Amino acid sequence: MGEINILELYPKARRDLAARKVGQAANRAAAKRFDREYFDGTREQGYGGYRYDGRWIPIARRIIEHYRLRAGDRVLDIGCAKGFLVKDLIDACPGLEVFGLDISDYALRNCHPDVRGRLVRGSVDALPFADRSFAAALAINVIHNLDRARCLKAIREIERIAPGRGYIQVDAYRDEAERDLFLDWVLTAETYGPPQFWRDMFAAADYTGDYYWTIIEADPEWVIGGGQKQ
Ligand SMILES: C[S@@+](CC[C@H](N)C(=O)[O-])C[C@H]1O[C@@H](n2cnc3c(N)ncnc32)[C@H](O)[C@@H]1O
Repeated sequence: MGEINILELYPKARRDLAARKVGQAANRAAAKRFDREYFDGTREQGYGGYRYDGRWIPIARRIIEHYRLRAGDRVLDIGCAKGFLVKDLIDACPGLEVFGLDISDYALRNCHPDVRGRLVRGSVDALPFADRSFAAALAINVIHNLDRARCLKAIREIERIAPGRGYIQVDAYRDEAERDLFLDWVLTAETYGPPQFWRDMFAAADYTGDYYWTIIEADPEWVIGGGQKQ
């Protein structure tokens, strides 16, 4: 098990921090329903349009290489949304048995056509699968949406279905400045802290898989307000 950034090649987001602060309470409430607003509403409510653009392809290749996945192996993407990573894993390794699980009816109803029949509705803290039933279980930016008790349960569930073969990515910050940025930007996360907070959570859950964090850093490319790039 280890700290490994499988999402290293994921493109950096452009963020308009000022716009996100407008109507934030209502946007947070809307986002937390994980319905249309969160995926395909405005950028202030969530993704501002969650569309397939191939950005997961290099990450899918990395996952296959890291976990030495082969045709016939079973992989679960937890919090799969519209199934884009599920599609790219199958395309990158024909014969790989990839499935997705998500809490969002909307995302599953609007999934990529290539993955229809492979996605199920469920929650990461109560996975409807047998012990040791997957060669890899991925949960990218999902478990921090649960409160601390459910989050711990979720980590244990991932370990149960794929012992030592999990990859969990979570929101985190390393210092006060990053914490302030995070709190301004975040819409749905309920459990968060610095990397050591997460290491302790993983240890408390007897987790033996891999993990890493998503950290929101100040970026000169960000739009800070008024629609102007600064
Ligand atoms: C930040 S998105 C990440 C989606 C995808 N993994 C990605 O990285 O693009 C969080 C996803 O977790 C899903 N989700 C939220 N709570 C969940 C839960 N309790 N169990 C399973 N999925 C959940 C949401 O519907 C959403 O699709």
